[in-house]
Amino acid sequence: MRKIEFFDTTLRDGEQTVGVNFSIDEKVKIAKQLETWGIDVIEAGFPIASPNDFKCVQAISRNIHHARITGLARMTFKDIDACVKATADADHKQIHVFIATSPIHREAKLHMTKAQVIHEIDEKVRYARQFFDIVQFSPEDATRTEMPFLIESVQTAINAGATVINVPDTVGYSNPIEFGRIIKTLIDAIPNSENISFSAHCHNDLGMATANAIAAIENGANRVEGTINGIGERAGNTALEEVAAQLHVRQDYYQCTDSIKLSETKKISDMVCEYSAIPIPKNKAVIGPFAFSHESGIHQDGFLKNHQTYEILTPETVGMHHSQMPLGKLSGSHAVMARLQQMGYDIDRADMKTIFPRFKAVADHCDLVSDDALREIMTPTMIKEAN
Ligand code: KIV
Ligand code: ZN
Repeated sequence: MRKIEFFDTTLRDGEQTVGVNFSIDEKVKIAKQLETWGIDVIEAGFPIASPNDFKCVQAISRNIHHARITGLARMTFKDIDACVKATADADHKQIHVFIATSPIHREAKLHMTKAQVIHEIDEKVRYARQFFDIVQFSPEDATRTEMPFLIESVQTAINAGATVINVPDTVGYSNPIEFGRIIKTLIDAIPNSENISFSAHCHNDLGMATANAIAAIENGANRVEGTINGIGERAGNTALEEVAAQLHVRQDYYQCTDSIKLSETKKISDMVCEYSAIPIPKNKAVIGPFAFSHESGIHQDGFLKNHQTYEILTPETVGMHHSQMPLGKLSGSHAVMARLQQMGYDIDRADMKTIFPRFKAVADHCDLVSDDALREIMTPTMIKEAN
């Protein structure tokens, strides 16, 4: 089985979510819980960005002992120097250097020719490599970069000492088939590519971030970057908990392992939700409150007969309490009877002939039928009335 490494950038790209500004204390707590979750690499921040970001990377470097710590750096000596200093105390460290390679970024943002970009990659990766055994290079906006120039940029970085090539879909432009092809083309074009880690960094502008990351893994990437709850710039990043759940549920299909302890997922998700103040959508995959709720009668009946009819992942697996069967107008008699029995009523299918029509009458006029409403339905007068 192939090992897939998980690289978390909640504290860097995740903090680029509008309005999110974690305190140092919050960042250290998140980093510790990420470590408990089993993360391989933590991108602790962008040390040159602000004195506070520098302190955060430093504090995380001092407090985390198993995961590898990285800071982000543009292709400048001062950015790289800031990363060197900020991660100096880390037990395990790497650096992440990036430069944009796409025509729109080269021309409109960097005002650089291809030759100048190549020069920067060569010079700065060589410089970074003096301080770090692991140098990660990202060609920003890789998915809008001409393939021959993408290959040339990546090859230049490798020749200069890069050991990890991260492929960013910076603006969430790609789709799974195309992104998978980009990863495969790169790996095939690089001689001795088995000595290099290939990584995927996807954004969610068109809702493809998780699917693109999975496509990258299927095409040879052995590292995935993302954030908890998928927070991040604009529409966010790949939600790492979704990738972890996917690899777990479909392990036979992907034939990959990882070091994530899925049962710690809810804790890290709640922590990021609290400190970022970004609520988790109710129907969010894997950790949304509705992810394990079954409302319609057909689903509830199937679920009561065998949970696996409608659940491919149990809530307990990701550290959530239990599945739920909220009762509403679409619920069936089986689920209503099961709930009443749980509440202590000694009833059977024959009793439901009287109880269920009463339940339906109430359910038709509300969103959900509460336990109090069920008790009301079960009062002797109600039952008599229904008869
Ligand atoms: O999305 C992006 O391109 C990035 C890079 C810095 C890797 O976040
Ligand atoms: Zn990004």
